[in-house]
Amino acid sequence: MDKKNILISGASSGIGLEVARALQAKGNRVVSLSRSSEKISRALRDFPGLDKEIDFFTGDISSEEDCRSLFTYLEEHYGVLHGLVNNAAVLSKGSMETISVADWKFTLDINLNGPYILTKTLLPLMKKAGQASVVNISSVAALKPGTSVAYSVSKAGLDMLTEFLAGDLGPYGIRVNSVNPGLVKTNIHLDNQVFDDSKAYGEMLEKARKRYPLGRIGEPADVAAMVLFLLSDEASWITGSIIKVDGGVMVENDLIPPKTR
Ligand SMILES: NC(=O)c1ccc[n+]([C@@H]2O[C@H](COP(=O)([O-])OP(=O)(O)OC[C@H]3O[C@@H](n4cnc5c(N)ncnc54)[C@H](OP(=O)(O)O)[C@@H]3O)[C@@H](O)[C@H]2O)c1
Repeated sequence: MDKKNILISGASSGIGLEVARALQAKGNRVVSLSRSSEKISRALRDFPGLDKEIDFFTGDISSEEDCRSLFTYLEEHYGVLHGLVNNAAVLSKGSMETISVADWKFTLDINLNGPYILTKTLLPLMKKAGQASVVNISSVAALKPGTSVAYSVSKAGLDMLTEFLAGDLGPYGIRVNSVNPGLVKTNIHLDNQVFDDSKAYGEMLEKARKRYPLGRIGEPADVAAMVLFLLSDEASWITGSIIKVDGGVMVENDLIPPKTR
């Protein structure tokens, strides 16, 4: 099947935007769910006319009410759903001693409760499609503690949701997989004020780059390629998998001397 109805959370920026554009270019019908009009306007500045190709629906993945409104809209305009990409997330910083309880809850609410609520709400549309693919965008921070306790724990929870739902929804013909990217150049770090300015962000990228065996930080297209594969019929026997797309950073260790690049 080549023309599918796909919902992507957070397709107004970064990886979600790249996945949406790649899917749309292949003739699929793509709907995005995100909160702010500013990020949609920013995407339209980069890609004029994009709002005619991607259906931008406004809402918050962690709101049951917003997800229900989206369900009603999708049922009326699209009927069934063949793919769901749980991509939207926020980044927070801090260890247990430095992050506030409010920020911990906010991060978990969007990064873990959000995909749960959205998937649960849209499930009837995927069951109706007969077969469907859910792709959860996780992170290497789920597999090895990163720099944010809330972010790492939220993504580790998301990976377990992937595995749990793969067993739960497989009998309906619904596959569920995680894609776990390493560091990818998007707006997430600056939009979430994890770095003070673009200079500090640039310095972090250059420092991090040296830890990547392939010698570069990821681009959204690196991740989009795997997402498109998992949504496709070629992946019809893949479910419950946690798949790294990380330029090899997870095999990096202190015993291997860094090479100069
Ligand atoms: N970039 C990286 O280095 C990296 C590495 C590993 C994993 N990831 C993961 O990849 C995914 C995409 O990240 P990205 O870097 O592309 O981020 P991004 O550029 O910041 O884009 C995030 C998107 O999610 C939307 N969003 C955030 N909270 C939302 C909510 N509550 N409801 C609906 N939409 C919401 C944002 O729009 P609004 O704010 O307007 O809602 C935006 O469209 C995330 O799951 C992230 O954790 C990224």
